[in-house]
Amino acid sequence: MLNTRLAKRSNYFEFRNNILHVEGVSVLELAQSVKTPFYVYSVAVLEESYNALANSLRGLNHSIYFSVKSNSNVAVLRVLSLQGAGMDVVSGGEYLRARKANVPGEKIVFSGVGKTSEEMRLALEQGIRQFNIESIPELFQLNLVALGMSKVAPVSIRVNPDVDAKTHQKIMTGMSDNKFGIPIVRAEEVYQIARDLEGISVVGVDMHIGSQITNLAPFQKAFNKTVDLVNSLRNLGHDIKRVDIGGGLGISYSRDQDDPISSEDFSQMLLSKFGDMDLEIQIEPGRYISGNAGILISSVIYLKEDSDKNFLIIDAGMNDLIRPALYDAKHEFILVDSSSDGKTAIEVDIVGPICESSDIFSKREVLPRLKPGNLVAICSAGAYGAVMASEYNTRPLIPELLVTGNIYSIIRHRPKTVDIIDRDLIPYWLR
Ligand code: LLP
Repeated sequence: MLNTRLAKRSNYFEFRNNILHVEGVSVLELAQSVKTPFYVYSVAVLEESYNALANSLRGLNHSIYFSVKSNSNVAVLRVLSLQGAGMDVVSGGEYLRARKANVPGEKIVFSGVGKTSEEMRLALEQGIRQFNIESIPELFQLNLVALGMSKVAPVSIRVNPDVDAKTHQKIMTGMSDNKFGIPIVRAEEVYQIARDLEGISVVGVDMHIGSQITNLAPFQKAFNKTVDLVNSLRNLGHDIKRVDIGGGLGISYSRDQDDPISSEDFSQMLLSKFGDMDLEIQIEPGRYISGNAGILISSVIYLKEDSDKNFLIIDAGMNDLIRPALYDAKHEFILVDSSSDGKTAIEVDIVGPICESSDIFSKREVLPRLKPGNLVAICSAGAYGAVMASEYNTRPLIPELLVTGNIYSIIRHRPKTVDIIDRDLIPYWLR
């Protein structure tokens, strides 16, 4: 039988009279006015998650930069910036989204291994709190760009601590064979180089060891190494004011469980490591804030009953939410109308319409016998959902909706299929 609760942290996705609501808005009514599939986010959950973290960190000199890559809709960024969040961006495009959400350049940090000169120029022109620099060539390039603009670029060097984050292999970033950061053992050398560059001003140390981390131990290991590094850099005369610890806090993808690391435990640990070091601690959470703030609503197209296997074919596909196909991620399913829970159960694989065998959301789910048009909700889809979507199979990107109280707004429209096709051009010599 299906359980009718969502992840414990939020009670803003609840059933009222058997119908799933996002805050005060019925998902059934949403689906009557907006064609499925679509994403819907809750302002209350975004605010609550952000504030839970900010409040736990109160005792520490800190600042929070929402990781835009997890959910980059400008309306979502606006909600968080109104709560006081800065933004962590990894491209010129994300930088411009943050600016469109009215975030000042001084509250934007620029991460990523492959920043181009054009992106560096954009950020230096409009303002930036710091560039997180990941290699010596990138450091030299930023120096050249800054000097060309008669500016000095604020920089933290991202170090790679060679720590196993004990998460899915595809989302670990802090091992020595990952492409990210400068090996921590070479950090002193790189800080010395940076000190001699006139277009560069070193302000801190940066790291990010991975995503969906569910245990404090990897963080502790990495932060112990950071503390040692800060001490030795200071002994060498570097003015280290900040440590950016990246993101990575995992969330619960199960409706019955709390988040694996509480914001209080995390903050306590940070306090014990960095509390007396006269540092500002910067944090770049993405999933922790946006993950459980969103769900993906989809309709049943067919129930395909074969001899030994049944498939529930829904109208959302791996192009809309790629996490199950890419990382074997489990997202829980619930019925938008729970009144049939527990009736005439049938075991199904829940699949999308894409022509790939990997287009599977969930295997062996026991569900009531659903009919075409019945609505399902895919949970915990607020992070790395819409942002990773594609138009594979010429399927338009799906709409995004934002709910606050009893109000919903469309915050991204579904493009017209014809507009997608019209982007292709037939050259004159093929006409
Ligand atoms: N800072 C940096 C430098 C990052 O690379 C990331 C994520 C974050 C912060 C935010 O991490 P979070 O707090 O959200 O864990 N697509 C994958 C996740 C990729 C994460 C990439 N970097 C997924 O769907 O699980």
